[in-house]
Amino acid sequence: MKIVNSIEQLRKLLNRQVRQHRTVGFVPTMGFLHEGHLALVKKAREENDIVVMSIFVNPTQFGPNEDYATYPRNEQRDVALAAEAGVDIVFMPDKDEMYPRIGEIQILPGAQAEVLCGASRSGHFDGVLKVILKLFNIVDPDRSYFGKKDAQQLAIIETFVEDFNFRTTIERVPTVREKDGLAMSSRNVRLSPKERSEAPVLYEALQLGKKYLEQGKETSVVEHEVAQLIENKTSGAIDYVALLAYPSLQPLTVDSEEAILACAVTFEKARLIDNVIVKLK
Ligand code: PAJ
Repeated sequence: MKIVNSIEQLRKLLNRQVRQHRTVGFVPTMGFLHEGHLALVKKAREENDIVVMSIFVNPTQFGPNEDYATYPRNEQRDVALAAEAGVDIVFMPDKDEMYPRIGEIQILPGAQAEVLCGASRSGHFDGVLKVILKLFNIVDPDRSYFGKKDAQQLAIIETFVEDFNFRTTIERVPTVREKDGLAMSSRNVRLSPKERSEAPVLYEALQLGKKYLEQGKETSVVEHEVAQLIENKTSGAIDYVALLAYPSLQPLTVDSEEAILACAVTFEKARLIDNVIVKLK
């Protein structure tokens, strides 16, 4: 496995001529790898000749009061896990390599970024799109892999790719969970033991909500019941519980084919998100 820090070096390695007719699968991450990230690599490995993973804690997607400085990092462990999972090239640029100056051009996501995490994390998805645009231009992948764990991010990136005619396809990968149902996340290490024991309630509550939705209960009732369960059984503060059409993230209508039931809950040192996607037709 090659470890590359510079854009120029990565471009040389992935140069069309060198690449010849080999396909490139791309897995963008912020590191502190876990089984969720590795599921993306596994799929990329199966479907492409070359697998590139980026590890970059992207400053532009963190708000001023968010956890950029304390985001968990462990480069050595990440490199070992990536190699073991079959990654061919790890791209680990530093901040100045990706952002040599404060960028003046902004990317504005549309209505999909106004709800859920976009409503409480102002500018977050602008930053995600900015780094994804740069990474797509640098790597020029055939296929790019994203987790359904971050379903809003995935939906916005799918729109971005369609709207701006990127060459890459976007591949959706199901959420990988701990045995007790907690969605794997780099931020889970920041939960206290008590919070960790409460955290599986998020998924329990979403599954209950899914059952209610399938029974035909109204959106507001489903959202209320899910929120009640999380409020009663955890010490976290609910940021949102919302049921929307997926991937449009607009209110559900009789024509909606898929729904997303999503929640965000803030614990002492970690904000957790989770969701379930429900087929309606
Ligand atoms: P990060 O949180 O490191 O996640 C990288 C990728 O792994 C994302 O596509 C995410 O959805 C996926 N992922 C995380 N946990 C998962 C789980 N439990 N199951 C399945 N997939 C999971 O998302 C980001 O980084 C950044 O916003 C990024 C896209 C890299 C842009 O900076």
